[in-house]
Amino acid sequence: MDYKRMSFYQVYPRSYCDSNGDGIGDIKGIISKLDYIASLGVNGIWFSPLYCSPNADYGYDISNYRDINPEYGTMEDFYELIEQMHKRNLKCIMDLVINHTSSQHEWFIKSRQSKDNPYRDYYFWRKGRGKNGLLPPNNWTSFFTGSAWKYDELTKEWYLHLFDDYQPDLNYDNPRVIEEVEDILTYWLDKGVDGFRCDVITILNKTKGLPNGKGKLVLVGKEHYVDNVDMKSILARLKRDCLDKYDTYTVGESVLITVDKALRYIDEKDKVLDTIFAFDHMNADNVGGIRQLPAKFNLNILKKANQRWQNGLYGKAWNTNYLENHDQARIVGRYCSIATEQLRVKGAKMLANVMLFLSGTPYIYQGQEIGMTSMPNMSYDQHKDTDYFRSYQLLKKIFGRKTALAKLSVLNRDNARTPMQWNAEPQAGFSINHQTWLPVNPNYLTVNVESQLDDGDSILNYYKQLIALRVDTDEMIFGTYTLLNIGGRKLYAYLREYNGKRLLVMSNFTDKQYSMRVPKCLRNCNSHLLISNYQDSPIQLTDCVLRPYESIVYRLI
Ligand code: GLC
Ligand code: CA
Repeated sequence: MDYKRMSFYQVYPRSYCDSNGDGIGDIKGIISKLDYIASLGVNGIWFSPLYCSPNADYGYDISNYRDINPEYGTMEDFYELIEQMHKRNLKCIMDLVINHTSSQHEWFIKSRQSKDNPYRDYYFWRKGRGKNGLLPPNNWTSFFTGSAWKYDELTKEWYLHLFDDYQPDLNYDNPRVIEEVEDILTYWLDKGVDGFRCDVITILNKTKGLPNGKGKLVLVGKEHYVDNVDMKSILARLKRDCLDKYDTYTVGESVLITVDKALRYIDEKDKVLDTIFAFDHMNADNVGGIRQLPAKFNLNILKKANQRWQNGLYGKAWNTNYLENHDQARIVGRYCSIATEQLRVKGAKMLANVMLFLSGTPYIYQGQEIGMTSMPNMSYDQHKDTDYFRSYQLLKKIFGRKTALAKLSVLNRDNARTPMQWNAEPQAGFSINHQTWLPVNPNYLTVNVESQLDDGDSILNYYKQLIALRVDTDEMIFGTYTLLNIGGRKLYAYLREYNGKRLLVMSNFTDKQYSMRVPKCLRNCNSHLLISNYQDSPIQLTDCVLRPYESIVYRLI
């Protein structure tokens, strides 16, 4: 698949469009919006899980890999979805969640029953430590904080769960597990699915013997499951036996990944995944990559992260670019201010420039294209995410209740999962039911699709322009990336160059004016304006005062 030229859109089905008024998004709702999605100019959709799930982690805990969650519709609806997508030239990328199943999956239900059933070894069951085995088998912690082990009374053993305790980890040392997964892949590929976004895909392989890990409190044990020795061969096998038999595309979500490690999986000479999602660039406003610990935004972290990935993969492997997804609070308000409506709009477009002009396949998360913001003042009880509740337990012990809640409110995942804002009608046009599964952000009266459709100057139309521009601007797709060493924490400027053609992307990351002097190396260039988020930016590159969040792209001649 020609994924280098393509752009993708991510749909979080539960929050996209509710067709039957139960307050929950569904497949028929998505189908009704396919014309809208196609009008963005994207080439495919990644769907967060549509499979049966008891919703401990809203679809990332799968109880049946071969059927559709009845809340979202039926298999017939899904066939209709794929057919309607393909008619519009939209590829269908499914989420593939195979590090763990739901504890309600029949494999786990059987696995629990006794110590010697054929499914026991599909998961990691171990005796506890200490007197009577009442301490967990090792010190690993869950990504959602707390121990990664849960005691089960029935057989008096513990099972491993790197996420919620309703998400037991599968054991890839058992050859049966990978065979099952291959069957599942083939099942969906035969139905016409075009590829997979592979959930936490680089942690499937755990060190034999499950030894204790280093560190304290968070991510303890990671050196025993992140990018482990046999990881690549597991993926190679899925590729050889299933994916390569079809025209597919894969993107692997790779937690805690570095450029060097990424190359193991995606180096074009020997790749087992087409692309990966990295995280470094999303950590410019937290402490050590931990979303539970927000910090002030620091542009230098973003610049350095992009520098590493853009240059590190260039000519060897292919990047992806994203600023939002269902695990990230809304980017507008994080990397730029939303103190006024004017700033929100300028900031959203600036971030669109910064992201779409980078090298790599772009992913736009539902609502990002209209500049949706995180949910303000959400009460504890309004939350739905298990990560929020588990993290609260830990943070409360460390910081006390008030500070814990304040910290969690900034970057928690429910922020980005509130219903899509379609129009200014009740529930933002998402549902006719006033009890939506998560509350609607009250700013829907101003922030919604309908109000932006016909406004040539809207964020929505800005995204459409950028997506269209990328399609036939080879510098945007194939160009080298050079960071200009100017601007510190305030200005972000980079060049893209391909076949002698150059683009300069220049963004003021502050909500104030910034006096920009043309760097020496560009003083003698002719230039003309390609696109800007202000109507009247200088048509040629010149010393100038950039306005709040002004972001200009010049073609250099
Ligand atoms: C991935 C998903 C996230 C989920 C986790 C466990 O990070 O994006 O939503 O909670 O994996 O499946
Ligand atoms: Ca519904």
